[in-house]
Amino acid sequence: MAAPYVIQQLAHGADAGLMGAAGPRFFAKVMGGSHPVGVAADWLTSMWGQNGGSYHGSPANAVAEQIAAQWLLDLLSLPADCSIGFTTGATMASFVCLAAARSRVLRQVGWNVDAGGLFGAPAISVCIGNDAHAAIFAVLRYLGLGHDRVIRIPTDDVGRMQVGALSSAVASCDGPLIVIAQAGQINTGAFDPFNEIADVAHRRGGWLHVDGAFGLWARASPALFRLTAGIEQADSWAVDGHKWLQTPFDSGYAIVRDEQAHREAMGFEASYLPPGGGGCREPFHYVPELSRRARGFATWALIRLFGRSGIAAMIEQHCLLARRMAERLGSEPGVEILNRVELNQFVVQFGTGQPPERRDQLTRAVIESVQAAGICYVAEATWHDRLVMRFSVISWATTEADIDRSADSIVATWREVSAGKTLG
Ligand SMILES: Cc1ncc(COP(=O)(O)O)c(C=O)c1O
Repeated sequence: MAAPYVIQQLAHGADAGLMGAAGPRFFAKVMGGSHPVGVAADWLTSMWGQNGGSYHGSPANAVAEQIAAQWLLDLLSLPADCSIGFTTGATMASFVCLAAARSRVLRQVGWNVDAGGLFGAPAISVCIGNDAHAAIFAVLRYLGLGHDRVIRIPTDDVGRMQVGALSSAVASCDGPLIVIAQAGQINTGAFDPFNEIADVAHRRGGWLHVDGAFGLWARASPALFRLTAGIEQADSWAVDGHKWLQTPFDSGYAIVRDEQAHREAMGFEASYLPPGGGGCREPFHYVPELSRRARGFATWALIRLFGRSGIAAMIEQHCLLARRMAERLGSEPGVEILNRVELNQFVVQFGTGQPPERRDQLTRAVIESVQAAGICYVAEATWHDRLVMRFSVISWATTEADIDRSADSIVATWREVSAGKTLG
């Protein structure tokens, strides 16, 4: 088939199956809106055909990653000597960070996991909040730490780890310890109390990892920085570019305080790879892959575009817009906003005062009807055993007008549903 037709066929064939995730009224998932500048950088990345794995594969990418890494640490107010791996997303970023954690806490008790594996290794205690993201449990599985053998710490009504419970749990474990905290709970946007958690973890010589897939970006905003107080005491952090930085997908950052632990867990040598990166950071020392997409360019471009003040303004605006939507929905009889909106996220249930199953049923009916109306896109989630509509404002393209138009659609739909027009 001739080349133009292949592309035409692909475009036509895929069209009906494309999600409007980059649109301004997509609120269902915590995903950025793929800013056109990032898309342009991504087109160049593909066109240049660079292998981003090593300095010799692409000196330009290695330099872009090195510059972007310094900018990221500065934007996030994290120690300038942390190392960063450019990953596919936050799941793999946590994988890298926790591999470094596993390596370091076992070396502290005389076990080299990188050489000897986990067979016969001392058991590691892993403490994690009960409302951690599902991806972290998957990562624990990949690392041989098991998603079920972890100690799940009870959380409060917005998903924050209870420090008293963590203290008791840590007191009853011995041996190597990893504690996993969270900046930005996927439903409520809540932040764990990092100062207290760091104190508990470090007093026992443990490693503290923070999953900050989107919430870590709050550090770029002077107004929201306080939510992350104490987070800088952690040993590693995972954050996404394809969330609040608005890069196209395939962009996460694994940030590790102890560069040696990071490299011990990830780096390797091969006879055909010249040692050293010409004085530059060697990309494959910090992530699992060798051949891979050159991820430095899009990150470089988006930070260059927005700058610190642009990122802060965007994040603060998203939080205001989330509050605007929550106030609008919450003022409607029969609609309950389940969390105080501190960040850009909230969960909402419809049918206040009705039995729980009926509320779930009404909420699902509203979500389905809003989707069918096509003004905005929302989806369901489960929050503390309740079926909810989760609402996240995180696209650069979303305006106040988008929020108001979407609120009109959701409110009108709810009124129809509650009047029994859609659901008997
Ligand atoms: C808190 C949190 N952790 C981890 C993830 C997984 O991130 P990714 O899909 O980039 O791997 C997400 C995704 O929404 C998240 O919100």
